[in-house]
Amino acid sequence: MRKMIIAGNWKMNKTPSEAAALASAIVEKNPSPECEVVLCVPFVDLFEAKKATEGSKIKVGAENIHWAESGAFTGEISGAMLKEIGVDYVIIGHSERRQYFGETDETVNARIKAALNSGIKVILCVGELEAEREDGKTEEVVSRQVKAALEGVSTEDMANIVIAYEPVWAIGTGKTATSQQAEEVCALIRDLVKGLYNETVADDLTVQYGGSMNAKNAAELLAMKDIDGGLIGGASLKPDDFTVIINAAK
Ligand code: PGA
Repeated sequence: MRKMIIAGNWKMNKTPSEAAALASAIVEKNPSPECEVVLCVPFVDLFEAKKATEGSKIKVGAENIHWAESGAFTGEISGAMLKEIGVDYVIIGHSERRQYFGETDETVNARIKAALNSGIKVILCVGELEAEREDGKTEEVVSRQVKAALEGVSTEDMANIVIAYEPVWAIGTGKTATSQQAEEVCALIRDLVKGLYNETVADDLTVQYGGSMNAKNAAELLAMKDIDGGLIGGASLKPDDFTVIINAAK
């Protein structure tokens, strides 16, 4: 049975005290969510987010993870560090990391393996640039990203992977993919996973849509057959809007 998952991606927003207030507000408004809810927050906010969500059904995620277990990697954070705080999920391969921080298909794959080895679930982000869509390369780009990211990931480990389809042109732009556009690529991802693994893995896989999902468009996107949740940036910082999205994911 595939799970509906609504995840907030706070990006580089909220100091620890602000994070405590925001996470508490989200917990208060969502005492018994009908889907899985995850707050992916900056590293320095993880403690506060964990404290605020304690005893609730809301899970906490990080926004990145390093591939090594430990060592001389100044400024990086390991899986063991995240696990000890009680982090349940980690976003890997977000387009902002691919665009601004040199993330490649290879480093995405290495980070995924580190997360799985640490017992942390992965939200793998894939998606095409606007120019790639215009050139008719969406399928090619998304297929390459998914295949490379999952290289060497076992069938059993696929139970700990969520894939978020995030067209880069829709992120933070207010330009949402139409529900048909989003459904088409989410279905393509599921089909690809079926080819790489098997039908059960594909059926059980949670495929999220992300990119300007908000309180107004969430219900329509989430009603699509192959869209099993959302990765939400801007709207996840607004407790009322985020709650509307959570309630739309039944
Ligand atoms: P957005 O961001 O909802 O602000 O477009 C989504 C994301 O980057 O995950």
